[in-house]
Amino acid sequence: MPRDLAAAAAAVLFFFLLVLFPAEAVPFVVLHGIGDQCANHGVAKFTRLLADWSAADGYCLEIGRGTWDSWVMPLQQQADIICNKVKEMKELSGGYNIVGLSQGNLIGRAVVQYCDDGPPVKNFISLGGPHAGTASVPLCGSGIFCIIVDALIKLEIYSEYVQAHLAPSGYLKIPTDMKDYLEGCRFLPKLNNEIPGERNATYKERFSSLENLVLIMFEDDIVLIPRETSWFGYYPDGAFDQVLPPQKTKLYMEDWIGLKSLDDGGRVKFVSVAGGHLGISDSDMRKYIVPYLKEKPSIGGRFT
Ligand SMILES: *[C@@H]1O[C@H](CO)[C@@H](O)[C@H](O)[C@H]1NC(C)=O
Repeated sequence: MPRDLAAAAAAVLFFFLLVLFPAEAVPFVVLHGIGDQCANHGVAKFTRLLADWSAADGYCLEIGRGTWDSWVMPLQQQADIICNKVKEMKELSGGYNIVGLSQGNLIGRAVVQYCDDGPPVKNFISLGGPHAGTASVPLCGSGIFCIIVDALIKLEIYSEYVQAHLAPSGYLKIPTDMKDYLEGCRFLPKLNNEIPGERNATYKERFSSLENLVLIMFEDDIVLIPRETSWFGYYPDGAFDQVLPPQKTKLYMEDWIGLKSLDDGGRVKFVSVAGGHLGISDSDMRKYIVPYLKEKPSIGGRFT
């Protein structure tokens, strides 16, 4: 009899443990790209599919006035808003994953590197991120934003005014104009620890503490110039004639932000998928994103 009782007690205890501590996957946040907003069908569906397939809670985090602010709010300010949001979300306090879309990746990295006392970021999944910069402003299309944007672009891209009013000017990197870029561009040189004498070891320490960094490049991307920036590849300083693979860039070789450290530890997955900018297929989402959103991603090196 006592043995049955013990077994029953154990079963009841087990049941309550399951109820109290369900084996939940780490939540994730989606940071959308320029010209987009969480209320749009595409990014809402993307977030929902990932949540369904991974059984993790997913949140698309909005910044200010959505589409509008994605164009006109400086990226540092956008990152500060996300930093405050993730600190306030108690759902994320045990850690979370970031899924970045295009420009959203730079906001996500700024959160990883700058957000003091923020919850820990575990996996970072980047789709089409201009990590090493881009040599062309994203295609805008038509409408009021684009009229403003076009007018701004015609001004000096590295001037105080444009830097304060056009988000992508924070990562526009013209390889033949590196001096102006390093002096005038307010966002990316700092994020990538590119400025000699101003490199901050804390950024490197935080970035290299990610569990996995998944860098997805789109084979037919014509929005990012060059598309290899999705992998931290870029033009060499001073020339447009070739694209350096990530491992041949100074950022990697001198390990300014810890990309090499992460890669040496087998934690960077360089993934190339078919399609244009952000045009990921459902099967590639399942293959390259979902495994990292599931509980205890202990995948290491499968996709390299
Ligand atoms: C480096 O960045 C950290 C985090 O933002 C900051 O606390 C620290 O003061 C910075 N160090 C230097 C030397 O600027």
